[in-house]
Amino acid sequence: MKIDSKITRWLVVCAAVWSVGIGSLAARPAQAQPPKEFHNLKVLPKDISQDELIDTMRDFSLGLGVRCLYCHVGKEDSKSLWDNDFVSDEKPAKQTARVMLQMMQEINRSHLAKIKKPAPELLQVSCVTCHRRQTRPMSLSQTLIATVEADGSAAALARYHELREQHYGSDAYDFSDRSLRELSSALATKDRLADALTFLRLNLQYFPESLRSHVQLAELLNESGDTAGALASYERALELKPGDDFLLGKIAEVKKRLVP
Ligand code: HEC
Ligand code: HEC
Repeated sequence: MKIDSKITRWLVVCAAVWSVGIGSLAARPAQAQPPKEFHNLKVLPKDISQDELIDTMRDFSLGLGVRCLYCHVGKEDSKSLWDNDFVSDEKPAKQTARVMLQMMQEINRSHLAKIKKPAPELLQVSCVTCHRRQTRPMSLSQTLIATVEADGSAAALARYHELREQHYGSDAYDFSDRSLRELSSALATKDRLADALTFLRLNLQYFPESLRSHVQLAELLNESGDTAGALASYERALELKPGDDFLLGKIAEVKKRLVP
């Protein structure tokens, strides 16, 4: 019941105050309080309530997977969250966030408002829609392609394991069978066949039964001149999809080339 839980909460607060001790409470400087008025709002309504502002800021933080001080200036000696300098625009992330907020409002108010929707309140874009708890909303394959191009395949492999360790099971990245296949095709079209093979083989370690990965591997091996390897991969795929005409055709074609 509501009243019960209110009383319980009040008792918990009393117990907490009691355990801290009246003496030490009196000796402490007053804790900074969340501001009730705001001095540098350029996009949010200037008369926004304290609750609404704090909820909005929480959505920003959760959406990007960051803390308040990712965007706000922290004071060296801050003892409480509210000692920090929330008014300052010094951090570039805060300035970017303002542009993002305007973009989001524009999407919701000017564009999404024009289409018929079964449940309008559920279909609003928010920070998390794009960001999925990352600061730069890139897919797994985009992130890894950027790493391959900047630092090479070994660095991208290390990055994959690091991201998997940190984010597996969250909605930040797609660790399904699809991402590494996508990465591998993208690398193959950039003529990075060896890198494409590395990531496809990694995918098969996680998804040994992935029919599409075996076919993609067969095609890559074929392209790199490893006809025997291609044949083995097509045959493995055929085990997963017995009697498949496309695979039988490919196997016949590759076998012809194997015969001297
Ligand atoms: C992704 C960046 C970002 C994060 C994270 C973030 N904020 Fe903000 N915050 C902003 C922006 C942008 C504004 C200004 C909005 C505007 O101009 O309308 C703002 C404004 C504020 C203000 C009003 C300051 C004033 O007087 O003008 C307070 C207070 C505040 N944020 C507190 C917080 C708290 C507390 C957190 C953590 C829970 C937080 N913010 C997390 C970007 C962020
Ligand atoms: C429509 C998609 C979309 C939405 C919605 C969105 N963002 Fe972004 N945001 C992006 C993209 C894309 C970038 C990356 C730009 C780049 O770095 O190339 C970005 C970058 C940022 C950055 C810079 C991060 C960094 O450190 O490099 C911040 C801060 C940010 N967004 C905050 C927000 C906040 C706060 C919201 C919600 C009010 C929001 N974004 C909503 C797409 C979006």
